[in-house]
Amino acid sequence: MILVSPSLLGCDYGKLSAEAADVVNGGTDMLHIDIMDGHFVPNLSFGPGLVSTLRKQFNTVLDVHLMVTDPKFIAPLFVDAGANLITFHIEADSDISEVLDYLEEKGIKAALSVKPGTPAEAVFPYLDRLYMVLVMTVEPGFGGQKFMPDMLPKIEKIRAEINRRGLDTHIQVDGGVDDKTAPLCVKAGADVLVAGSYVFKQTDRKAVIDMLHGLQ
Ligand code: DX5
Ligand code: ZN
Repeated sequence: MILVSPSLLGCDYGKLSAEAADVVNGGTDMLHIDIMDGHFVPNLSFGPGLVSTLRKQFNTVLDVHLMVTDPKFIAPLFVDAGANLITFHIEADSDISEVLDYLEEKGIKAALSVKPGTPAEAVFPYLDRLYMVLVMTVEPGFGGQKFMPDMLPKIEKIRAEINRRGLDTHIQVDGGVDDKTAPLCVKAGADVLVAGSYVFKQTDRKAVIDMLHGLQ
């Protein structure tokens, strides 16, 4: 089954709450919330205040993607704000096992993300501890970029290793996901689709979420 996580980075911020409600009512499985520190990536986005506001408004899974240098310091801010799933980058500066220990202790689903230049094998030592691996299909930092098809073999490699070990780890893809690229990602082994600009530019978001759910 494919899970859908629309990225609020792609919505109209003047109507953020209504746009989030629209995709929740459209049957989304998660809301993807991109957090940037202006250091790990050359951009800034949202903070924990938005996550606690969304937590009060929606029961859906809040999928927080930390594009930050120091996830050990930043993750607790978002756990306290009500995140259900925290993704942080393997390229960040914090000790990965320490962050995973913290998330496990808090009962929060943990995911590790790899930037386009990082090989599949980098996540293998942590695979048994992860709810999900996020394969970036653009350089992180901005919405609306072009999908990088050369990331598809990386998805295949991670899926093969997950299957080899008999795990049920999810693989999420993020960046340039649309009606053309989502089927390629699913075929390669991804089962959680993040889409920002593609979902939010639609007038009928439910139809798009239904279409993504139906991919196999
Ligand atoms: C980019 C973010 C993405 C972004 C995707 O660094 O991690 O979640 O919102 O946007 P689209 O779907 O427009 O490529
Ligand atoms: Zn993201």
